[in-house]
Amino acid sequence: MLEIAIDRDQPAAEFYADLTASAVALVDGEPDAIANMANIAALIWQYMPDLNWAGFYRRIDDELVLGPFQGKTACIRIAIGAGVCGTAAATGEVQRVADVHAFPGHIACDAESRSELVVPIIRQGKLIGVLDLDSPLPDRFEPADESGMVKLIEAIADNLG
Ligand code: SME
Repeated sequence: MLEIAIDRDQPAAEFYADLTASAVALVDGEPDAIANMANIAALIWQYMPDLNWAGFYRRIDDELVLGPFQGKTACIRIAIGAGVCGTAAATGEVQRVADVHAFPGHIACDAESRSELVVPIIRQGKLIGVLDLDSPLPDRFEPADESGMVKLIEAIADNLG
């Protein structure tokens, strides 16, 4: 089993470089997308502070369907275009939401969530799902979290679908 130790207190660029290297090592040589999503959700949950949910929705036909995650039980199916996750899926653009209460159509799986970061997962030009991170803190996610997570997902997208 891979030994992982990441310093949570280092600057964001170094933190995300280490997190991405660990993510790449975790999925290396493993083609099963569900197994890989499960390990990546656990990796993020272990090393990113102040999250109350971290996980994946997979695109199946015209919906997002709940995938591997850490946190409380969550909504199972989200229409493309609905809520923060569905907006990321519909537009292919990252959604970094400082205040989920101000986001039209936000789906409150957990009333404690205050801010959210959703990264679309594109493989061979097609949207295969999204990574969803929720925080109980308002404005938890900074531009460095967005760029770091985008690079992490790009680095492992081939092993997520
Ligand atoms: N808040 C999300 C729904 C997914 S849960 O937070 C896990 C949304 O509006 O898409």
